[in-house]
Amino acid sequence: MAKYSIKNVHARRVWDSRGRPTVEVEVELEGGAKGIAIAPAGASRGRFEAIDLRDGGKTFGGWDVTNAVKAVDVEIAEVLKGQDVREQERLDKFMIELDGTSNKQRLGGNATVAASMALAHAAAAYEGVPLWQYLRGDGEGEVFLPLPEIQIFGGGAHASRRVDVQDFMVIATGAKSFREALDFTAEVYLSAGRIMADAGKLAGVADEGGYWPDFDTNEEAMETLVRAIEGAGFTPGQEVSISLDIAASEFGENGKYTLAKDDRTMSSEELCAMLVDWMERYPVVSIEDPLGEDDPDGLMKFTWAVGEKLQVVGDDVLVTNAERVRAAAKDKLCNSLLCKPNQAGTLTEAKAAFDAAEKAGMGRIVSARSGETEDSTIVHMAVGWGAPQLKVGSFTRSERMVKWNEGLRIADTLPDRDGPLMPKSAFHWR
Ligand code: PGA
Ligand code: ZN
Repeated sequence: MAKYSIKNVHARRVWDSRGRPTVEVEVELEGGAKGIAIAPAGASRGRFEAIDLRDGGKTFGGWDVTNAVKAVDVEIAEVLKGQDVREQERLDKFMIELDGTSNKQRLGGNATVAASMALAHAAAAYEGVPLWQYLRGDGEGEVFLPLPEIQIFGGGAHASRRVDVQDFMVIATGAKSFREALDFTAEVYLSAGRIMADAGKLAGVADEGGYWPDFDTNEEAMETLVRAIEGAGFTPGQEVSISLDIAASEFGENGKYTLAKDDRTMSSEELCAMLVDWMERYPVVSIEDPLGEDDPDGLMKFTWAVGEKLQVVGDDVLVTNAERVRAAAKDKLCNSLLCKPNQAGTLTEAKAAFDAAEKAGMGRIVSARSGETEDSTIVHMAVGWGAPQLKVGSFTRSERMVKWNEGLRIADTLPDRDGPLMPKSAFHWR
């Protein structure tokens, strides 16, 4: 047996950052190399994402994954054993065909994505190179680190809807390196914490480690964010800018949006107008899912109005699907892709969506989920694939920090050890 042949594929149940079960897969090669990866889990999920297979019933709130674990140990292991681990596309295709559904509902996207990522880790270990380098292949030119997009306040489905907007984030638009972007963000996070504590509003952190937003209105988060940036000694819109994930599908249906916190129901046009108004008054460079996944007309109009100067990111509407990315590019639905491997269910499909976005001139943000673990595969994907940006939640808690720290470790091996960022022209804000 060749050293790169897959000897064994084994899954086990481990636990994610919300204390819920998830799937870890370990791939072992004949030569002894191993790869290991863990599936993340979303809370504000797009309707067309790959399905996480959950057991249902009473145990662990129905979140258990014994069936997904079994799918790996029995069916997936069977088709992968004996294969050449370096043939990622072929192996992912085996799993896609074995599942046989359009959304991985039979084997579970949690089973397939963990297996897919573990295969890549094993292949990189066999080749004796870091995963990012393996994924980059023969790519020429400079290696870039992705510009971080980091949450300061968490809301929506990640904070019991304490505010309606899901992510109030910052992007260190003036940073010269990955390291400096993290330095800037660390100061802003501390500054925001001081402001919250002084106002008696420091109530803990939300699912992704951003402050639990004990605010009276959605806009109060915007005002506080500007103060936090200033309090850290930066000029808002210069060194540090604001980025939002509205996750509008969570509070809207059929073009009607209810902002519970603001006690207001809005039409698609009114929500657009509110966001444009925020853009005019706050230094916002990026807005994700500004309208719901069932409101493509609204989204198209929004992008038509502001897409020349604002990064408009599709998460729920694109669900990391190459076909959807191509259609969105054609219709100018949005100008950037949020790329989450578990929305697709395999690395190959996530890469296809990523490549489709690149080909269409769209922005690309590799992203974690709200339910995460110590797995840092996505950082290697971002660097290896040449993603301009990376989103992994906030700047606390180890399931988030493991990603930022892995980026620093990768940067430390490059000629520019601070981690060079892509040139300004790579980003969709002006
Ligand atoms: P999710 O949130 O992982 O809960 O879907 C992240 C996002 O919406 O970007
Ligand atoms: Zn999102």
